[in-house]
Amino acid sequence: MKKETEIETPRLILRPWREADAESLYKYASEPEVGHSAGWPVHASVEESAEYIRTVFSAPETYAMVLKHTGEPVGSCGLMFRDGYDAREAEVGYWIGKPYWGLGLIPEAVDALLARGFDVLGLDAVWCGFYVENHKSRRVSEKCGFRYHHTVENVETMLGDRRNEHRSLITREDYRARQMASAPGALLAEDAVEFPAH
Ligand SMILES: CC(C)(COP(=O)(O)OP(=O)(O)OC[C@H]1O[C@@H](n2cnc3c(N)ncnc32)[C@H](O)[C@@H]1OP(=O)(O)O)[C@@H](O)C(=O)NCCC(=O)NCCS
Repeated sequence: MKKETEIETPRLILRPWREADAESLYKYASEPEVGHSAGWPVHASVEESAEYIRTVFSAPETYAMVLKHTGEPVGSCGLMFRDGYDAREAEVGYWIGKPYWGLGLIPEAVDALLARGFDVLGLDAVWCGFYVENHKSRRVSEKCGFRYHHTVENVETMLGDRRNEHRSLITREDYRARQMASAPGALLAEDAVEFPAH
């Protein structure tokens, strides 16, 4: 049997969704503010969440974000490979339960997905798309090193309304440059100091 991919970060285990996660998934995905920002309908029942786990959430490279200290899945993240994308490009997707907003957990998970995408899967670039009013998601993309690329207007969401969507990108080169800049001993230009002559 093929071994499941499991990715460890300081506070999280990313692993495939399991049907036994349906109750936790329902608890967090039934919150209207979560679905609305991302443009998808709230989960209406535990059974519906179980169905999502069997279908949408069983896609390759889609992970439950399990909090190490409780063992509970509290959000979802993944790399999506859509038709029309170059085979060596993917799009990152993510959401997390409202009680866990603002703890930097999504940036932590996205960093791990970028490492997997570039170092293990050999991707050339990863996209991140978010509706223009989604300031929280924009901050995630900025903190993870994505750069604004273009805006698509009038995109129909799964809720049936239309919104404008910013699309940002991180290339393998950008990712490597960030790694170099954050390596121990790296000196950023703005940190450089002039030494006295004597
Ligand atoms: C967008 C989202 C994934 C961010 O995840 P996160 O783990 O909270 O990310 P961060 O902790 O880095 O916070 C990101 C920003 O959210 C905002 N924020 C933080 N805590 C917040 C709170 N309790 N309430 C509202 N906004 C908050 C801040 O602007 C923060 O940016 P900052 O670090 O510059 O202050 C999360 O808010 C979410 O799941 N939202 C609903 C679904 C969604 O929009 N998914 C993305 C679709 S593209």
